[in-house]
Amino acid sequence: MASKLFTVSRATRALRQFPTPYRSFSAAPQRCSDVLHVHRNKPTNNPSLPFAFSDQNLKLADEILKRYPPQYKKAAVMPLLDLGQRQHGYTSISVMNEVARMLEMPPMRVYEVATFYTMYNRDPVGKYFLQICTTTPCQLGGCGSDAIVKAINEHLGITPGHTTEDGLFTYIEVECLGACVNAPMVQINDDYYEDLTPESIKTLLTALKESATTTGTKVPAPGPLSGRGTCENSAGLTNLQDPPVWNPETMMRKDNALDEQPQQ
Ligand code: FES
Repeated sequence: MASKLFTVSRATRALRQFPTPYRSFSAAPQRCSDVLHVHRNKPTNNPSLPFAFSDQNLKLADEILKRYPPQYKKAAVMPLLDLGQRQHGYTSISVMNEVARMLEMPPMRVYEVATFYTMYNRDPVGKYFLQICTTTPCQLGGCGSDAIVKAINEHLGITPGHTTEDGLFTYIEVECLGACVNAPMVQINDDYYEDLTPESIKTLLTALKESATTTGTKVPAPGPLSGRGTCENSAGLTNLQDPPVWNPETMMRKDNALDEQPQQ
């Protein structure tokens, strides 16, 4: 046994003498929300800073809680954290503690959820939170996400994982957001902007910046910025042109056949 271990460790040492012939699998930068999986108190984020839901959000929280049986109200932890993040701007430790108090959960259980899911930003982000998809279809589709990343870097003057000095834009790279057919794409807050080009992303960022300071500024509508309606091909719609047979209006059978099923 000892000689086997010796052989393995000698082989490992021998391999280390050669440079690694491949690069690491992922070169994606760290996200703001998971730079640390532990909380460190900061002046802007510590348990002594009070947080309370606004009256309007308390009503929404009540609505959310009604979706679950009272004995399982901790199931509302994710939507309540989301609500807290939307109100506060990010999921601070005080937001987590307030959610834990409302749901009568140990705070640690809430911290576990907030640190597991990357959509909870545990540090402040800009008014516009850009998540640029750099997964393979977006790398290959259209002009490719590399060109979009480069355009954002140049336009905002920041690299992924950082916020502009005016606090308007935070920008990160993410994996597939499920809109590959309209690649390359970016999510900005809750909206998807698709079919991007370096020019269209710069125009969009300029419009967003102006809209933050000037009322009435027109911002491009979310969706494909190439002019197509959804994800039809360049020749326009070539199939699925008939009205759908199964839609909410036609889902219910008109002949009451289902109502007349004999009771089992
Ligand atoms: S790869 Fe970018 S949305 Fe799917």
